[in-house]
Amino acid sequence: MKRVFIQTFGCQMNIADSAEMLAHLSRRGVEETKDIESADIVLVNTCTIREHAEHKAVSFLGRLAKWKAKDCSRVIIFAGCAAERLGEALKKDYPFLDIVAGAKGIDNFSKMLDESGLFAVNAQNYTQSVKSGVLDYVTIMRGCNFACSYCIVPSVRGGVKCLSPEVILENCAELAKKNVKEIVLLGQTVNAYKYEDTDFADLLLKAASVKGVERVRFMSPHPAFITPKLIDTIAKNDKIAKHIHLPVQSGSDKILKEMKRGYDSKTVIEKISRLKENGVLVSTDIIVGYPTETEEDFERTLELVDKCAFSFAYCFKFSPRRNTPAYSLKPLASDKEVEKRLDILLNKVRHFSAKAYKDAAGTEQMVLMETVYKGRTSGNLWVKTPKQHPVGSMVRVRIKESDGKILSAE
Ligand code: SAH
Ligand code: SF4
Ligand code: F3S
Repeated sequence: MKRVFIQTFGCQMNIADSAEMLAHLSRRGVEETKDIESADIVLVNTCTIREHAEHKAVSFLGRLAKWKAKDCSRVIIFAGCAAERLGEALKKDYPFLDIVAGAKGIDNFSKMLDESGLFAVNAQNYTQSVKSGVLDYVTIMRGCNFACSYCIVPSVRGGVKCLSPEVILENCAELAKKNVKEIVLLGQTVNAYKYEDTDFADLLLKAASVKGVERVRFMSPHPAFITPKLIDTIAKNDKIAKHIHLPVQSGSDKILKEMKRGYDSKTVIEKISRLKENGVLVSTDIIVGYPTETEEDFERTLELVDKCAFSFAYCFKFSPRRNTPAYSLKPLASDKEVEKRLDILLNKVRHFSAKAYKDAAGTEQMVLMETVYKGRTSGNLWVKTPKQHPVGSMVRVRIKESDGKILSAE
């Protein structure tokens, strides 16, 4: 039996895509290995969201040159978003690449494997080698219809295509049968989901009612599609996690407009307040140092963070991506100034993150155990328990205290 070593970079979409590609390989008699030296195939699933991400993917390829040199029958598959951006041209610099499978072509991956002539279709030997844990991902839509001025995703993943509710719910049910308790619905603007009469709130409810599913989360929603119906649905259903990761990007209306985000700070702050009033913890993504960001614009972002008190935030330094509108803008601030802003923001974000943990002291929480001693609350906070509990079990606990990073249960 041939073995594949998989290296995944990037977001949850890529993790889900890697699982899908592994399933196609399994059907051809390939099993997964965690040891690259014993592998016959390496599948690298890449990201290109920021320059650094693409650099990581390409330098991994450099390392693979040595791996392949040991045995030229070894196979390298370069997949995902960086593969989409760089394309077949990569084979010029890296002639040892066997298959380049860009993110847009994931639906053609199976055909690509067949056309390569490197894999025999081996359906009888098909073993579902995809292992699942307590949590797993279900893609509900691919691509993005927005055109945020800094973002490369629409160009490497194309426009929105939604999967049918039947296919999605079947995938959820299949995972639940394999003892997956928490389902994360995935899409670049996941809450823009629409398939015939089914909108995202409807789909969430349906996913939450799949037998065996204990908790449903989703990634990444877009502020423009946070509707009263969606807030109500999250608030009223116990199985839908009381946490939302809602990227705001900036607190300055000028910058939001230039980014083409489709909302202003007032609207997004109001939506976040509604969510919080309904017991939902909110985390976010913020970009610092967008080329036209002034000190004043940055102040607006700090104000927004003060008002929203995010339970967590990923803060990114703007990274110019070729062929995006923001690429050619001249930065107003020096690199040093941007670093300073990032530092100030990170300090603030850490303060609120620790506060979210401290605020949970004294509350009662349902914890879904991911190891025998540790699990997460519905609001996505980590909890350690004094006693052991089976992995995958849902335990009701009272929170004693927090060190700002993890909660301790009584
Ligand atoms: N679809 C999601 C975000 C996907 S990309 C959404 O619209 O919310 C994940 C995060 O990467 C974004 O939220 C943004 O904060 C960051 N990001 C995207 N492009 C970037 C760039 N060029 N430079 C820095 N950060 C970027
Ligand atoms: Fe990128 Fe904007 Fe689409 Fe998110 S909504 S993937 S940031 S273009
Ligand atoms: Fe990266 Fe592609 Fe995800 S660029 S962030 S892996 S959609």
